[in-house]
Amino acid sequence: MALQISATNPEHPALLLELPWGTPLEEWPEEYLVPLPRGISRHVVRYARAGEETVAVKELAERPALREYELLRDLDRLGIPAVDPLAVVTGRTGGAGEPLEPVLITRHLGGSMPYRSMFETTMRPATMHRLMDALAVLLVRLHLAGFAWGDCSLSNTLFRRDAGAYAAYLVDAETGELHRRLSDGQREYDLDLARVNISGELLDLEASGALHPSVDPVGFGAEICARYRGLWQELTRTSVYPAGKYHYIERRIRRLNDLGFDVAEMQIESSPTGDTVTFVPKVVDAGHHQRQLLRLTGLDTEENQARRLLTDLESWMATQDDYAPGDPHAARPEVLAHRWVREVFRPTVRAVPRELRGDMDPAELYHQVLEHRWYLSERAQHDIGLDTAVRDYVDNILPTARRAPEPARD
Ligand SMILES: Nc1ncnc2c1ncn2[C@@H]1O[C@H](COP(=O)(O)OP(=O)(O)OP(=O)(O)O)[C@@H](O)[C@H]1O
Ligand SMILES: [Mg+2]
Repeated sequence: MALQISATNPEHPALLLELPWGTPLEEWPEEYLVPLPRGISRHVVRYARAGEETVAVKELAERPALREYELLRDLDRLGIPAVDPLAVVTGRTGGAGEPLEPVLITRHLGGSMPYRSMFETTMRPATMHRLMDALAVLLVRLHLAGFAWGDCSLSNTLFRRDAGAYAAYLVDAETGELHRRLSDGQREYDLDLARVNISGELLDLEASGALHPSVDPVGFGAEICARYRGLWQELTRTSVYPAGKYHYIERRIRRLNDLGFDVAEMQIESSPTGDTVTFVPKVVDAGHHQRQLLRLTGLDTEENQARRLLTDLESWMATQDDYAPGDPHAARPEVLAHRWVREVFRPTVRAVPRELRGDMDPAELYHQVLEHRWYLSERAQHDIGLDTAVRDYVDNILPTARRAPEPARD
């Protein structure tokens, strides 16, 4: 059987052909590999270079490889944070003509860390709570989209910094199933698997001495479930308001938006007596702020970063002479937003020397500078301005920043 590379993007097969497909993944020479931390897995997984990209290569049987590839494509279509599938390679043969296992190739998720590497420095309980929050939000998003994960765990999740919090990405979709909608039973089952897996992983860390002594592994598993249930309830519950109080509905929609979710449809019904209305939102995937920032500025960021940057953008807009919402002759928000990117965002990011940025992307860096500005302004009792903040950040914070996963300040 001939080597076959099935890929979504026509540019990828050419780059991927350069890789040593005739050698078992475990024996790939150093020169092809990228030494980045990996989580634990049953299959052999390696990171390799393909042109400008770093890719994750996982050896597994053909059927599960194709299945996982398709599921990851579905998740991408649904806007769920998961690793991007690039290709499946089949028909590999070794030097003596013996068949080798097919592989699934995904794009390495830049700036991400497997949780084990995050626990190498003992993590403060507050940071752990943020991690768990991110995982609960991911599970809610998957469930809203009808995806039952089947193996939610810390090892199957990747974490990226997101404005002082974390954003969680699904990395292993092998056991997943996509339905039109999940029943409560299916959700509960999935949640229970998550609880058992996570408590187990934390017990493991505890045994190896890598867990903060105040953290109770079993309690933490239960807490993720509570966090998930609270969020699910907030997103899907039916609310009843006195008739005429439509602004209550608006308020609830805003709250949902603030949590990062959009309301795709809603059902509003008056009671037979007409004195109350019932409101049922149909909430869809998160990323409200992310999409808004992308539309306005072209910056593609995580959700919390987007919320933070939008706040900054809005307050900056208000200082511009041609800013007058509702006035047809005033500058359009997109125009102002691009001006902000050119005159504020980019110069601030450029003021930080590349070698000091660590693994922070521009949005995270900008967020950190905003945090620092806020901190210095509080101390000075007046706004010290962005320029002073970035200078002080470069001179005093970055050189001493530990490259630990914890954000510098709460
Ligand atoms: N695209 C990617 N970007 C970053 N890291 C990745 C990527 N793909 C895989 N990894 C790393 O490799 C590890 C193993 O991947 P994965 O969970 O898919 O393997 P697996 O053998 O199917 O796992 P399991 O034992 O749960 O079945 C992940 O925990 C992650 O650390
Ligand atoms: Mg896995």
